[in-house]
Amino acid sequence: MFEILRTFPNDPIPEKIVSGEGMYLNTKSGKKYFDMTGGFTAHAVLGWGNKQIIDSIHRQLCKVPHIDYKTFIDENRTKLASKLLEKSIHGLDRLFLCGGSGGEACEAAMHLSYQAHFLNGLTEKQWFISRTQSYHGATTDCMAIGERPNLDFYNPLFPRKRAKVEEHNKFRHLKKGETEKEYGVRCALELEKKILEIGQEKVCAFIGETIMGGLVGDVPPTDNYWLEIRKVCDKYNIHLIVDEVWCGCGVSGKNFCIDWDRVKPDFIFLGKTFAAGYMPISGVVTSSDIENIIKSTSGRVENSTTFQGHSACVAAALACQEIINQEGFLEEVSNKGKKLRDSLNQILKDHDFYKNVRGRGMRNSLEYSCKEQNLFGIAVSDYMKEKFSTLINGKWHRFTFSNSMLISDEELDSFIDQFSYSFKKIARDWDDKFIEQVSNKNFF
Ligand SMILES: Cc1ncc(COP(=O)(O)O)c(C=O)c1O
Repeated sequence: MFEILRTFPNDPIPEKIVSGEGMYLNTKSGKKYFDMTGGFTAHAVLGWGNKQIIDSIHRQLCKVPHIDYKTFIDENRTKLASKLLEKSIHGLDRLFLCGGSGGEACEAAMHLSYQAHFLNGLTEKQWFISRTQSYHGATTDCMAIGERPNLDFYNPLFPRKRAKVEEHNKFRHLKKGETEKEYGVRCALELEKKILEIGQEKVCAFIGETIMGGLVGDVPPTDNYWLEIRKVCDKYNIHLIVDEVWCGCGVSGKNFCIDWDRVKPDFIFLGKTFAAGYMPISGVVTSSDIENIIKSTSGRVENSTTFQGHSACVAAALACQEIINQEGFLEEVSNKGKKLRDSLNQILKDHDFYKNVRGRGMRNSLEYSCKEQNLFGIAVSDYMKEKFSTLINGKWHRFTFSNSMLISDEELDSFIDQFSYSFKKIARDWDDKFIEQVSNKNFF
């Protein structure tokens, strides 16, 4: 018998999803789940069954599914670049469409950065510096610059000339008596130290997620962090690359998450949220300065894939841009996110297990601490699924909420009630006997 190779082949066969509508996913067995995970990989940021996006893809498929990016013009690509960039406050003015996954976009940004330095005669600039506790994708280079314990065994395959500084996470690393501003400066100094250790002439770029995303749980930087990092990068002619696969394209409440930080990076790479999961598309935002280097030298971007700027995917991303660019849309995303954080904080702030809730717009996480805390996250998630048919992503030390930007106020209110009730209920029962039941998957 032929089967797909599942990621977890030892686990029971998961439920079959047959359709989706708004915030809901429907299973073959007739269940209807309220989805606060965005399809579990946080991609469904405009919900399910969005007619405007589906129609846009359909129209394009009927015209031509895909024409080559290098050889022909697909006008939608230009429209997409305009929609994405016209309101940007950082002034970046070029969009390079590179493929489908965030990992491809990460490598495309690294390749562009290296190519630009190389063409400028700075051929020694081959080192990339990233941060611990980061995730940038599953290609070999993305794994090398990221940090995920289950991927460590790939280490012998990683490229050389990669280095890391500590994650930027004020919740874990702010020292007693230190202000957030001082912490931001300290992180930038650590980067500077690393650059000098390697040799400034050898460092190509610094790469970081604008907010530390899926691994640590939506930790926004201190107010001054990216400004300080930018200064260090400028001092040593090092590109700044920010990863907005998780937090870009409106989900933070701004077009680009880095807009909150008032900083102009050299490259921003996008994926996941770019077409809200309706199609796989990824890209790198950069400037005509980079283009001019290429124009006046080799005349060619040396990064190319068959499906870069795939026409049907571009049609999907364009429809998403049209939605998020509507008057007041992003402000509402921002307000709803604030309401989620403020309400959960208000309800849970005195709870023993609660640490904090943080994020930007619709990218939020709640951190907790208790005995067997990974199991606690799983138990609350399982409980919510069973009792309320609500899907959340709870594990390790945090609950991550990566729901659609189109969640209604009533849905949000109801979720806040359900979650805080479930959190308190499971916490109340959290003794050794119960923990054992949960670890034996004998919970219900
Ligand atoms: C911040 C960040 N960067 C990069 C990626 C990789 O994207 P993909 O899985 O599409 O390769 C992810 C995926 O979760 C991500 O969260």
